[in-house]
Parts: sequence; structure tokens; C-alpha cells
Amino acid sequence: MAHDNAPAHQHRAFSDDREALSAIEEHHGQMLRRGSALADALVAAVAAGDAGAAYDEKANLVGWCEDELIPHAVAEEGPLYGQARQTAEAHLLVEGMLLDHQTIIGLVEELREAEGARAAALGTAIARAFALHLRKENELLFPFIAANPALSLAEAVAGLEALVGE
Ligand SMILES: [Fe+2]
Ligand SMILES: [Fe+2]
Repeated sequence: MAHDNAPAHQHRAFSDDREALSAIEEHHGQMLRRGSALADALVAAVAAGDAGAAYDEKANLVGWCEDELIPHAVAEEGPLYGQARQTAEAHLLVEGMLLDHQTIIGLVEELREAEGARAAALGTAIARAFALHLRKENELLFPFIAANPALSLAEAVAGLEALVGE
């Protein structure tokens, strides 16, 4: 049989930091498109006055936050943020990024209890806060790690599906 030797699950590995950085950016882009689309769908349902659809769209967005957004943040806080946090140059940036994670997770908690216009506003706030946060990762923090010979982006994200996809 042709697939006898295929591994059951191949974890993603990267030959260098450049390749890892582009995989992270691509994954961030997919996450942003999905999260923004879910937030927009919630706004549209609330604007249309469709309470049933609004309930469903809020559940979809909360579910995505629980399954994708929060595990992504938690995974970053391991070796990825950890190694940069120990450098003098990026220490404060990482502290700031951790505050972003706390804030975004707090917004998700608020969204869980919210309805109607408030839920729509919180959904938009989550999508926009995530967009700002990932620009700081893509444009400041991760390029810093990739450019620092003492740190390894490729090692920090290898096999972490929540950071680089499958
Ligand atoms: Fe993050
Ligand atoms: Fe991220």
C-alpha cells in the first residue's frame, strides 16, 4: 500500500528563521481574516435586528476565540515570547505584548456575557485589537527574534500548530 510509510502526523519544522517568520505571518493573516469575518457577521446580524442570527454569530465568534485565538496567545507566551523577554532590547515590548493578550482575553470574557449592540461592539473591538497586536508581532517582535543570532524563531515555533498552522 502506498501510504504505509507516511507518518501519522508531520509536525512543521523550518530550515531558518526567515521561513518561520513567513509561516507565522501567513497564519496570522488567516486568523485575522477569519476573526474579522466572524465579527462582521455578528455586526450584520445585530444591525439587521435578527436576534436569532445574532445569538448564533456571537456563539461562532466566542467559539473561534476559545479554539483559535486564546490557544494562539498561550502558545506564544512559551518559548517564543520567553526568549525575547530575556533580552534588554525586547523586554519591555514583550511585557507590552503580554498586556495585549490579557486585554484581548478580557474582551472575550466580556463578549461571552454581552448581547445586541454591546456584543457587536465587543466583537469589533476584539478583531481590531488583534489586528494591532499582530502588526506589532509581525513588524517588531518576530523580526527582532529572527535578526538576533542568539535567538531562534524557527526552534521556538517548530511543531506549534497554533502558531504556524498544520
Ligand atoms: Fe500574540
Ligand atoms: Fe500572534
